[in-house]
Amino acid sequence: MKNIDAKSHLRGESIYVDDIPVREGTLYAAVFGSPMAHGLIKKLDLDAARAMDGVHGVLTACDIPGVNQIGGIVEDELLLADHELHYIGMPVAIVVAESEGIAKRAVAAIRIEIDELPVVVDPRQAHGVQDYLTAPRTFAIGDPAEVWSECSRVVSGRADIGGQEHVYLETQGTYVFPLESGNLKIHTSTQAPTHVQRMVARVLGTAMHRIEVDVIRIGGGFGGKEDQATPWACMATLAAHILNRPVKLILSRADDIRMTGKRHPYSFDFRIGLDRDHKIRAYEVDCFQNGGAAADLSPAIMERSLFHGSGSYYLPNAKITVYSCRTNLPPNTAFRGFGAPQAMFVLEAAIFKAAEELGVAPEVIQRANLLQDGDLFPYGQQAEGCRAVTCWEELEQTHGMEPLKEEVALFNRENSLRKKGYALFPLCFGISFTNTMLNQGRALVHVYTDGSVTVTTGVIEMGQGVNTKILQVAARTLGVSPGRIRVESTNTTRVANSSPTAASTGADLNGNATLLACRAIVGRLQRVAAQELGCSDTPERISFCDERVFIDAMPTAFTWFELISRAYARRVSLSEHAHYATPEIYFDKEKEKGHPFAYHVYGTVITTVTVDCVRGTYEIDAMRVVHDFGSSMNPDLDLGQIEGGIAQGVGLMTIEELLVNEQGRLVYDSLSSYKVPDIYSVPKLVDIVPLDSEPSPHAVFGSKAVGEPPLCYGISVYFALVRAMREFNPQFSLQLSAPMTHQKCLLSLYENL
Ligand code: MTE
Ligand code: HPA
Ligand code: MOS
Repeated sequence: MKNIDAKSHLRGESIYVDDIPVREGTLYAAVFGSPMAHGLIKKLDLDAARAMDGVHGVLTACDIPGVNQIGGIVEDELLLADHELHYIGMPVAIVVAESEGIAKRAVAAIRIEIDELPVVVDPRQAHGVQDYLTAPRTFAIGDPAEVWSECSRVVSGRADIGGQEHVYLETQGTYVFPLESGNLKIHTSTQAPTHVQRMVARVLGTAMHRIEVDVIRIGGGFGGKEDQATPWACMATLAAHILNRPVKLILSRADDIRMTGKRHPYSFDFRIGLDRDHKIRAYEVDCFQNGGAAADLSPAIMERSLFHGSGSYYLPNAKITVYSCRTNLPPNTAFRGFGAPQAMFVLEAAIFKAAEELGVAPEVIQRANLLQDGDLFPYGQQAEGCRAVTCWEELEQTHGMEPLKEEVALFNRENSLRKKGYALFPLCFGISFTNTMLNQGRALVHVYTDGSVTVTTGVIEMGQGVNTKILQVAARTLGVSPGRIRVESTNTTRVANSSPTAASTGADLNGNATLLACRAIVGRLQRVAAQELGCSDTPERISFCDERVFIDAMPTAFTWFELISRAYARRVSLSEHAHYATPEIYFDKEKEKGHPFAYHVYGTVITTVTVDCVRGTYEIDAMRVVHDFGSSMNPDLDLGQIEGGIAQGVGLMTIEELLVNEQGRLVYDSLSSYKVPDIYSVPKLVDIVPLDSEPSPHAVFGSKAVGEPPLCYGISVYFALVRAMREFNPQFSLQLSAPMTHQKCLLSLYENL
């Protein structure tokens, strides 16, 4: 089944926040952000802005009727600065005017005097003075301290991974309408409508039931709108509430890049100990997470780093510690993978460095330590239905790993200025919010008297195609054609208390809720049909397929439409609101042990690259993947998710560089200097082979979550590049610092040559 949005996307007819027809009386907001990364406000002069023609208001912290606090996990983030400024772009004042142009000119007329304070941008510096956003946490299994001396080789080092800008196509934005009696309706580009509703209510000092948040779809989120759509929605709503006018606030790309948080850069100190048979005996890592100026989702991201610190391997003795460090940068936030790619990168870096020192190929160590059924993760969950070895072996078979390696070796013998390298990467990604509470979904299904159906869930469509999957679930369960069903906008009044669409759980949580709702309706309709067909005592003989009633799997003359009419006439409910909570999961934060994930997703990639050793540029020849989809309910969508994830992972490891100077200012702050992968920088070939695997019982229809895990395949690109570069220059010092930009590549190629 095709993505239900494909046609309207292609024709440019899909509606995003800025496409909602403008209502009469609409005002436009723009935000004045701090020009300095750290300091105290000495004087804020708003007079010139206020005096401008067409300006209706300039709002600051003192205009907030409720609480000036939007911290979700830790209450440490103001909506508007009141005294201290913590990062460049930190919102200070909201200008509301008759046009966007006037609002922006008024923002430019605001003057601020600041007593500057020292700026910290390096998480290690914050760690030095123990300035943390939340208490450090450690996951441990066995005891590395006891086995270092028994290892045949111990290797230690430092690794670094940079952040990443989300570059969702639709920037952050909100359009809000005041309704009667102080109620408000908010259209906003968020992954978390309930979070917006809760925070708006807090900021306005009102009840959540007065706030309706509606989302048709968003133009990409990638985690960047899990928490950070909220402040902009709060600011627009504050203005609408105070001025009693519709208010629109859409960030320009420049403001969005400058003012919002990004993927967390991490710095690591690692130590790894191996046996003579290449088994990893011990691993220890300190992770310094660059959290930015407020906690935002950093504590949850820290947690996912801990959960993925052992990657796809069994580590008998490991100690993984994360320090969430406070710096003067915009609060860093969720980004596809949510702390897992960083933790996986450092483990691969440790294995890579150990391999170099032992003089073996890294895949020898990787293969020797792959996770197997029954192995314990450091957090106490046992690997079940583990596909790590199966994926690896399947890759060896279907893609012929040996011929590929020979091809690379031959190329390198025949070419002196261009070199090829390859690398493998085994993926293991836990599916469920690590915060058990969030693993719940809801769906509201109505069957109308003409037999057509609407479904509302708590899930947000952000391009991943989840609404198409929801529709498939409803169509299959009700036995009606997909064209008969419409997936409604996500709306807090129709479906309340939704979790963010995140952690790749959107389809599982809301798809399973849809399944439950449809099953309840089917149950009632079976009884109606049984009565109509004279088998009231055995309604289980009835089923629905192709818009027809079946008895004992044989079609009857009774259609879906007649059935619905009969059910209505018999005063049987044609609507259902269902709730789904992932069973069996729990986690004990005291012991740091439990069973946090419903299941794991596995896969293996082999990547080949070619480096131009004169220019320091490179191309990715191919990424060949064996991926565990369970039994995919929509292979087209799932392949699209893998390809998109890979492109984003490639960017993270190659050309996307978030450089911040000592003043806390982004150096590459526009899309002309911050480069995301284009058609030339993605792999020339992406070949994805689905693994024939058991459908997972907690995945909806056995179709495993696919949103985030594939991004991690990008990690292989970094190591493939280093190996190609080593072919040209075996002498350069191994920095283990991602991304490997063309600049870094060129400098390494000629270091110590
Ligand atoms: N795909 C598209 N096209 N756009 C997005 O914003 N976000 C990713 C992933 N794939 C994203 C995407 C992230 S970060 C997550 S958590 C999942 O989709 C969320 O959707 P799901 O739970 O339905 O997989
Ligand atoms: N993953 C993604 N987003 C989240 C999570 C998680 O585990 N927890 C809270 N938000
Ligand atoms: Mo995705 S980072 O969990 O929104």
